This record gives sequence, structure tokens and C-alpha cells, in this order.
Amino acid sequence: MLLWNGKLVNEEDVHVSYHDRGYYFGDGIYEVFRIYQGHLFEKEAHLDRLYNSLAEIKIQIPWSREELSAQLNQLLDTFGEQDGMLYLQLTRGEAKRAHAFPVSTTAVMLGYCEPLARPVDAIENGIATITCEDIRWLRCNIKSLNLLPNTLAKQEAAEAGATEAILIRADNTVTEGSSSNLLIVKDGTIYTHPDGPLILSGITKKVIERIASELQIPYVERRFTREELMAADEAMITSTTMEAAPVITIDGQPVGTGTPGPVTRRLQEAYLQQVHALLADASPAS
Ligand code: PDD
Repeated sequence: MLLWNGKLVNEEDVHVSYHDRGYYFGDGIYEVFRIYQGHLFEKEAHLDRLYNSLAEIKIQIPWSREELSAQLNQLLDTFGEQDGMLYLQLTRGEAKRAHAFPVSTTAVMLGYCEPLARPVDAIENGIATITCEDIRWLRCNIKSLNLLPNTLAKQEAAEAGATEAILIRADNTVTEGSSSNLLIVKDGTIYTHPDGPLILSGITKKVIERIASELQIPYVERRFTREELMAADEAMITSTTMEAAPVITIDGQPVGTGTPGPVTRRLQEAYLQQVHALLADASPAS
């Protein structure tokens, strides 16, 4: 089943208009939620970010947060107790093509769940990355459907046989991955770019920050450069789908020893405990 404008429907009942502003302009936003054994991980944090993205681009939706949250639960019920992801997107709606916002239109919502196994190989063995210039706009905090710079960077990584592209601004600021946040470890301290317009405020990054505080691992949000990145002892990317995956090479150069480092391992272990805690708390579905 899919969630289509607030209702559960079959796939053949979803009809997207060619006048949808998401289709014409990428005028919409999205969220990717992680499902562990049928339960949403960090659901409220994802909803907070969804509402923030909507507010940033001035899209109003006809459902209250409680209604939307209940609709996600209904969708989840149709998915069962498996691991997966829930994709939810909202566009400004349908209107004859004109750049300015239409006077009256209703937001169009689509949500669905898909099975997704934990990326065990990446988590255990680490990933190869490349660096790419960060050519994105200055509102990367919005989880916008406009992902062309991200898809171009990811494609460059794929063509180089790498899993992720690390984005670096023209002024040498390392920001994040094409679909992940980036954290480095130097002398036992974790460094990552501060939230703000240059990155997406990752939910997984927030979980890592919380875990680091619990484990008393120093965690600092500050700008860092390509040189600091290349000199890091450890690096990892974080995202809803990748969890915390060690970065073992950057542009063919090993990070630290070229194997997943001890700080990354401790964070991964604690992350998994958070997932187990979710499942232990969840009764019967939330
Ligand atoms: N991407 N930065 C960017 C540019 C992202 O696209 C993502 C997530 C993140 C990590 O955020 P979070 O930890 O909340 O997933 C950071 C999702 C998974 C995607 O587009 O598929």
C-alpha cells in the first residue's frame, strides 16, 4: 500500500499530474525514515525536520502533525515487522506552469515503505569515497527534492568505484557527503560541520552526538578543511540508511590505518544499542 494524500491506496490509484510543481520545479521536500522490524527510528526528529523544510519553502499541508503521524503508522502497519525505509514527499501541488506560487493549490503527498537490509558490508568493512566540489545552493538545511548536484556527485563516485562523494566548498570547507553527513576523528575528538545552511541537519548525526556525549567522547561542530580531512585518524559518514559507515579511503588515500577505527567502532556499537532500545520499548507498534 501507498500513502497518497492522506489515504492508503494501491499503486494503480496513484496518479501524478504533469502540472505537479514537484515535476516542473522540484518544488517540494522529502524525508527518509528508517524502519527497524516494523518500527520507525527517531520518528519525531524526522517529523520536526519535515515541518521545518515545509516552513522554509512555505508549503502548507492540510493535515495536522497528529494526523500525519497516524497516517504513517497506518502505512507502517501494512508493511509488517521487517527492516526497511519509509519515503515521504510533499510537493506544493498542481498548477499551470508559472514560477510564482499558485494562489490556491493543495499540497500533494506520497509515502511508501520499501524493504531495506542494514548495509552490513559498509558498516563492517568501511567504504571508499572521492572528493567533489560542493556546488549546491545556500539552503542545504532544507530537505528539498532538488538533488541534481547531489546526484551528479554520487554518480561521479559510482564511476570511480566509490560509495560516497565528500563535498568540499570552493573556500576549502568540507561540508558533508552527497547523501550523508561526514564526521572525522582526530586525536580522540570527533569533528563535524555545524548545522546551518551548508549542510542537512542529519538525524543520524544527532544520534551520534548524543551517543558521543554518553560515552564521553569529545564532539565538536566546527568548520574543517580538506587538509584536516586527509590528516584525520578516522572518518565516517552517517545517514538514515547507512547508519555510521567508516570511510577507509578518500580519493584512493587511506584514512588513518585504512581500516575502521576504534572511535567509529564504539559509536557503531552504541548506535546498535539505540536500535535495540527502540525495539524493546516498542509495544506493539509506534
Ligand atoms: N539522505 N546530508 C544529505 C545531503 C542527505 O541527503 C542525508 C540523508 C544526510 C543524512 O541525514 P539523516 O541522518 O537524517 O538521514 C545528510 C537520505 C538518506 C536520502 O536522501 O536518501
